[in-house]
Amino acid sequence: MGCREQRWSLKGMTALVTGGTRGIGFAIVEELAGFGARVYTCSRNEKELNERIKEWEGKGFSVSGSVCDLSSQDDREKLIGSVTSAFDGKLNILVNNAATVTLRKFVDYTPEDYSLIMNANLHSPFHLCQLAHPLLKASGNGNIVFISSVAGLVALPMLSVYSASKGAINQLTRNLACEWAK
Ligand SMILES: NC(=O)c1ccc[n+]([C@@H]2O[C@H](COP(=O)([O-])OP(=O)(O)OC[C@H]3O[C@@H](n4cnc5c(N)ncnc54)[C@H](OP(=O)(O)O)[C@@H]3O)[C@@H](O)[C@H]2O)c1
Repeated sequence: MGCREQRWSLKGMTALVTGGTRGIGFAIVEELAGFGARVYTCSRNEKELNERIKEWEGKGFSVSGSVCDLSSQDDREKLIGSVTSAFDGKLNILVNNAATVTLRKFVDYTPEDYSLIMNANLHSPFHLCQLAHPLLKASGNGNIVFISSVAGLVALPMLSVYSASKGAINQLTRNLACEWAK
C-alpha cells in the first residue's frame, strides 16, 4: 500500500451512518466504505435499503444495515443493539445524518409537525449519542459527526422549526465537544 493510501485509510474502523440510502447519507456511506471502513446504515424503506446494500456489495464495500424508524425509541435501541453485534461493541464513527424537513408558514405548524421534526432532527441524534457512548469509548477512538444545515445559522423562509432543530444541533455539537472530546 502506498503512503497516500495509508494516510487516508479507514481500514479497521467502524461507522454508523443514519439514513444512508439516499442523498448526503448515501454519499457518506460510499466515502467511508471506499476508504476501507466497515459501515452500518439504516432507513425506513426495507426494499431501498436492501437494494443499496447489494449495490455496495457489488463494489466490494463492507456495508450492512437494518430497517429503523429513528423517531422510535425502541427502534433506536434495536439499531444500537445490531451495531453492537455487527462491530463487536466498538464504534469509531457515528454520523447523525437522517433528518426531516417540512416547509410551513410559522402560523401553520401543527403540534404534530413540531413533534415530528424535533423528534427526528434533535431528539433522535441526542439519544443515539447517548446509546452509542459506550461503543465509541470502547473503540478507543470515537468520533461523532452531526449533519446540520445552513438553516441552523441563518433565517430561511418556511423553515422555522427545521431551523430551530438544526440550530440546537449546532449547540449540542459544541457542548458534546466540551464534555466528550477531551
Ligand atoms: N439536501 C440538502 O440540500 C441539505 C441541505 C442542508 C442540510 N441537509 C441535511 O443533510 C442531511 C441529509 O439530507 P438529504 O437531503 O441527503 O436527505 P434525503 O435525501 O431526504 O435522505 C434522508 C435519508 O434519511 C433516511 N431517513 C429519514 N428519516 C428517517 C427516519 N425517521 N428513520 C430512519 N431513516 C430516516 C431516509 O430514508 P427513508 O426515508 O427511507 O427512511 C434517507 O435515507 C439531513 O440532516 C439534512 O437536514 C441537507
